[in-house]
Amino acid sequence: MRTQIGIIGAGPGGLFLSHLLHRMGIESVILERHSRADIESTIRAGVLEHWVIDLMNRMGLGERMMREGRPDHGVTFQFMGRRHHLDFQELTGKSIRVYAQHEVVKDIVAARLKDGGEILFSVSDTTLQNIDSEHPSIAFRDANGVQQKLDCDFIAGCDGFHGPSRQAIPAKARKELDIEYPWGWLGILAEAPRSSEELIYSNHDRGFALLSTRSPMVQRIYLQVDPHDPIEAWPDDRIWSEMQARFAFPGWTLSEGPIFQKSIVGLRSFVCEPMQYGRLYLAGDSAHIVPPTGAKGMNLAIADGIVLSRALDAWYKRKDKALLGAYTDTCLARVWKYERFSWYMTTLFHRNDAETAFERRIHLADLDFVVSSRAASTALAEVYVGVPID
Ligand code: FAD
Ligand code: DHB
Repeated sequence: MRTQIGIIGAGPGGLFLSHLLHRMGIESVILERHSRADIESTIRAGVLEHWVIDLMNRMGLGERMMREGRPDHGVTFQFMGRRHHLDFQELTGKSIRVYAQHEVVKDIVAARLKDGGEILFSVSDTTLQNIDSEHPSIAFRDANGVQQKLDCDFIAGCDGFHGPSRQAIPAKARKELDIEYPWGWLGILAEAPRSSEELIYSNHDRGFALLSTRSPMVQRIYLQVDPHDPIEAWPDDRIWSEMQARFAFPGWTLSEGPIFQKSIVGLRSFVCEPMQYGRLYLAGDSAHIVPPTGAKGMNLAIADGIVLSRALDAWYKRKDKALLGAYTDTCLARVWKYERFSWYMTTLFHRNDAETAFERRIHLADLDFVVSSRAASTALAEVYVGVPID
């Protein structure tokens, strides 16, 4: 089997990359470990930055997102019993949209298959070969367990944090920088009517809580928990009473309903430098992880895909290697801004048991400054809605 770009992973990073390459006339094949049904139902991110919304519309992928996603012109920050509205439209002229990651995945998978794109689902034993030569390849077993080899010009490692691509870069050629937070997120989906017209980020003495949505009748809510908690430690009535306490606000009610999905994830910040080695280019979570507060991970994966597609286009059209050579630096300029933002949002909103009383006062003063200074609100809103890609 042969193609120009062998892509490992059909997450938002790999799928966007494949779609962009197709529009540039460059062939790719995606190898995905899970089945189509699995990737189209895995519950993860929900917030699309303004330039991703524009990109999806320009690429003909936005019809369902515009119909079913909720446009959010601002967010609410809650702390010390007060609520503050940050008006993104007024501060930046831009908005975000809440539209689930697996719906984005469904839309691009459908578009890729309609355009004759090749996505091989349920592959196993994916192994990168000869990445430091001009003839890299990917060995794998197909869905029937038959050993196969995909020869290609370049490999895009879009296989998430646990995939094999990053590990294929020799340990001495990469540096890994990270923070592991002592916090986890319990995320739930509940069949309940919407309680708020926009996202609510709540800093509460009992811990952080985030109210998001998926549709008028399905709500997505996150709670700060111990990352080592077993999910059994969180029966539904405990979840609701905790959420009621952390979002409590006079004259406002949090609507409840049956919880039909729940899981706990740990929070980490992680960057692998460089993001390339030989003919291998990492994109998305395989190269960097942000803690979810502020909703940047999927948007970053898509940004990497754009940078890589442009670099490959320059190489194929003009044999120009400059953009490929600059791939790591171009991506990391955005990645580190988003790492800073996600770390800041995470520390700003989570309860930190290691904080002294003095540090707690500074923490609250920081929150107060963000909502009371127009300059500080604008600085936060500017990154929240998304740093546009040139
Ligand atoms: P992934 O989505 O992880 O895709 C990688 C793919 O590679 C997977 O399909 C996997 O099956 C496949 N794969 C792995 N190994 C192999 C292999 N050996 N062979 C073949 N295929 C393989 N981001 C936002 O932008 N906004 C948000 O609101 C947001 N909220 C979040 C909330 C939570 C609770 C969590 C956990 C994350 C959130 N994120 C958010 C982050 C976002 O989900 C990720 O950053 C995003 O999925 C990264 O996309 P990706 O394509 O790089 O990787
Ligand atoms: C969602 C996730 C986030 O991490 C966030 O900051 C806002 C919303 C969501 O899944 O809807």
